[in-house]
Amino acid sequence: MLHVLYRRLHRLAERTTWEKFYAARAKSDPLDWFLDYQHLKSVLQPWIFSNYHQDFAVLDLGCGISDMAAHIFLDLLNKTGKVDCIDFSQTAIERMQKKYKHCFNHSNHRLSYICADATSLPFADCSYDMVLDKGTMDAAIRHQNGEVMGEKIIAEALRVMACPSQFVQISDEDPDVRLQLLYRCCNLYRENTKSYQTSVKFRELGSFSGIEYLMYTIEKKLA
Ligand SMILES: C[S@@+](CC[C@H](N)C(=O)[O-])C[C@H]1O[C@@H](n2cnc3c(N)ncnc32)[C@H](O)[C@@H]1O
Repeated sequence: MLHVLYRRLHRLAERTTWEKFYAARAKSDPLDWFLDYQHLKSVLQPWIFSNYHQDFAVLDLGCGISDMAAHIFLDLLNKTGKVDCIDFSQTAIERMQKKYKHCFNHSNHRLSYICADATSLPFADCSYDMVLDKGTMDAAIRHQNGEVMGEKIIAEALRVMACPSQFVQISDEDPDVRLQLLYRCCNLYRENTKSYQTSVKFRELGSFSGIEYLMYTIEKKLA
């Protein structure tokens, strides 16, 4: 039984698993793997509002068919700012591109869905004011080289984060495990770049459907 469970978890890191998952839900409602925008709005809004500027840019890593980033775009980035969403599932991205095509290319107010891998992002350094991850690293670390995948995702997030900026990760992983990985990635990043400071924090978001969720954040600032 455990063997079967392990094999299933292991597959969460594979692109083909997600392609099949989204293809089977082609006509279903939008889906949040856990916690939707209504649960998270009150924790995201203060940081966005206190750091908001004309070209405010948000990146959602592994958006799937969740509407969270679209709600941020429509609700919080009032007429300016952009939201880019990536996922390595072409099926999920095409569905979201179709659904939100009316939001594309409004000069400096733009919502985009791009097929890309979170371990190798097609974006320039220091481009985003906020980078979000809800469940994506949780899936990627099920890979047989899970730690390496996790480290690559955080390294890429830190690289594309502007200064100052915030990485926000929603997960059910225990702080004893997740914090070690986040601290290690931040230490490595600071050693390599020298110009930035990072500060890692977490808070409990409460229990939903019997599972405890946490919000991990990394703030990136000038040293
Ligand atoms: C648990 S789901 C979460 C989806 C969405 N964020 C949500 O909250 O509903 C994980 C998502 O991450 C995507 N994913 C996993 N590994 C990825 C990677 N290396 N690069 C890009 N997307 C990835 C999967 O395709 C899937 O859509």
